[in-house]
Amino acid sequence: MIPIAKPFLGKEEAQSAYNTVLSGWVAQGERVEEFEKKFCEYTGAKYSVAVSNCTNALHLAMIVSGIKTGDEVICPSMSYIATANSIVYTGAKPVFADVSQHDYNLDPENVVKLITKKTKAILLVHQIGMPADIETFQKICKENNIKLIEDAACAIGSEYKGEKIGVHSEIVCFSFHPRKVITTGEGGMITTYNKEYYKRLKLLRQHAISISGKERHNSKNLSFEDHLETGYNYRMTDIQAAIGIKQLDRLDKIIDERRRIAGKYLTGLSGIDCIILPAEPEDRKSNYQSFAIYLKENSPVNRNELMKKLLAAGISVRKGVMTSHRETAYKYSADQKNLSVSEDLCDNSFMIPLYVPMDESDINYVIETLRKIVS
Ligand SMILES: Cc1ncc(COP(=O)(O)O)c(C=O)c1O
Repeated sequence: MIPIAKPFLGKEEAQSAYNTVLSGWVAQGERVEEFEKKFCEYTGAKYSVAVSNCTNALHLAMIVSGIKTGDEVICPSMSYIATANSIVYTGAKPVFADVSQHDYNLDPENVVKLITKKTKAILLVHQIGMPADIETFQKICKENNIKLIEDAACAIGSEYKGEKIGVHSEIVCFSFHPRKVITTGEGGMITTYNKEYYKRLKLLRQHAISISGKERHNSKNLSFEDHLETGYNYRMTDIQAAIGIKQLDRLDKIIDERRRIAGKYLTGLSGIDCIILPAEPEDRKSNYQSFAIYLKENSPVNRNELMKKLLAAGISVRKGVMTSHRETAYKYSADQKNLSVSEDLCDNSFMIPLYVPMDESDINYVIETLRKIVS
């Protein structure tokens, strides 16, 4: 079976985790600091704060951005449910906007229509690694005096106008889940250029304790801590960070290879009338966290039949990105009428295997099999 995805982990990551275990310090400590520093160097961000996963990163991003009960935050329904959940955790309401067919990201026109007096922020997702048009949303936020928060869970290493995702907005959140381009098992990172946000994020991730574990450990004086506000345990461990440091070293090579495989798919599957392949706008560079294909109505097989045939041929396949408004947890918004593109993309697109390293014969087999099924 050709898997849909596979993390690229090697002896370097294993050795790094092993060394950390034997060092005797496994909770948040110096490896986490080193990982944060490397993350700043890689993305160009001013500050980075590592946390336990991207869902928690988004939750903290909402808190430091001042999102509270009664507020509204506009986000795509077509995203992993963590996007909407991070808003609900604060007591605010996610207001679902539709996405654009061409890049699977928020449709600015639809977003503008949903802005009310209660709107405090837009949560902009870079879906499956394709950067959204950040400048358009910065302009909308400025005009309406609301915040822009980026959900870059899938977009590490992707670029917008020649710069890495992580530097454009006041606050950006990343995921290191194994389904992402690099992994720490579970893990997340927040980047910001706002020093006040940075200081508060570092507190909130560890119960807002006034003295860190490391400071207390190293202190020669008696010191008593205070808890400055209600915080959370959203810490990353040093074992995870030790893996992340080595994964960051590989990231550019991983992305180059993902882009090469995506290029082979784009060439090998071109000219098929009943599918729409991903298209990268000139000013953006995707890390191809996933490779999604849209199946048009004139296809000889429907999407689910096609998925069954691929599976039967030994090729793992996934349906398009979920819509949150049709999940039981968000059923109160199921009658939103503005989400037709999201529903169509979710119901008629599918994802094919893409991972590093991937055998050339497997890449060719996916292309040939798909061509046969839809021809
Ligand atoms: C767009 C998006 N946001 C947030 C998340 C949550 O990330 P994590 O699993 O690290 O909490 C995901 C994970 O799939 C995602 O795809």
